[in-house]
Amino acid sequence: MSGELSPIDKAKFVAAKRAADFVEDGMRVGLGTGSTAAWLVRCLGEMVREEGLKFRGVPTSTRTAELAREVGIEVVSLDEAKWLDITIDGADEFDANLNLIKGGGGALLQEKIVATASDQMVVIADAGKEVETLGAFPLPVEVIPFGWQTTQALIEETLVSMDVLGRSATLRMNGDAPFVTDEGNYILDLHLNRIGNARQLALVLNQMPGVVENGLFIDICDIVVVGYGDGRVELR
Ligand code: 5RP
Repeated sequence: MSGELSPIDKAKFVAAKRAADFVEDGMRVGLGTGSTAAWLVRCLGEMVREEGLKFRGVPTSTRTAELAREVGIEVVSLDEAKWLDITIDGADEFDANLNLIKGGGGALLQEKIVATASDQMVVIADAGKEVETLGAFPLPVEVIPFGWQTTQALIEETLVSMDVLGRSATLRMNGDAPFVTDEGNYILDLHLNRIGNARQLALVLNQMPGVVENGLFIDICDIVVVGYGDGRVELR
């Protein structure tokens, strides 16, 4: 399955393959979104088809649901599963405390709901995602389309009052139109450079009218499986 891969894809693949070993028969498993999570879904599909692994998967996006079905994973909704044994997902950044920025793929809302409803969240990432301080990756914030420019202005004003370094919030686009999430919302990407107090920012953002959820995952992740281009894997 891994064939001839570029170092970055190899890093994602080996992290995903190692994390697939966490999945056991009978588990209810949250399936993340993104290119690294897609490797995981393919690995798990292979284990279902070739080793007879039996588990139920709860996808965090329509993309992941399609891929999971395609590779032979039994897909159920979160409400059917009720609670999950484990969620395995990618991330855009992680720090030494295993706090994350997620949402580069626009699926942060379902990802946060699913991860929070799990006994354990395992993140799979290539080594380039490890940072000292979160924030170089633009922080995705999911907002209601109604009045999104007012929400954008409110976020920018709040960032100024919090003395956060970078202050621009840009609407994520998909060609000429706004990018629309699975829930029909928009994404504002906050260009912050460095997030000094991620916990406080996450709380403040979620209190604003119009904001649905933000991409800071604080105290949610339990383990990060880090993959390297030479095939090494480390657990944090
Ligand atoms: C999607 C996500 C992804 O997990 C994150 O963007 C990482 O993606 P990739 O594995 O493609 O680098 O949060 O909303």
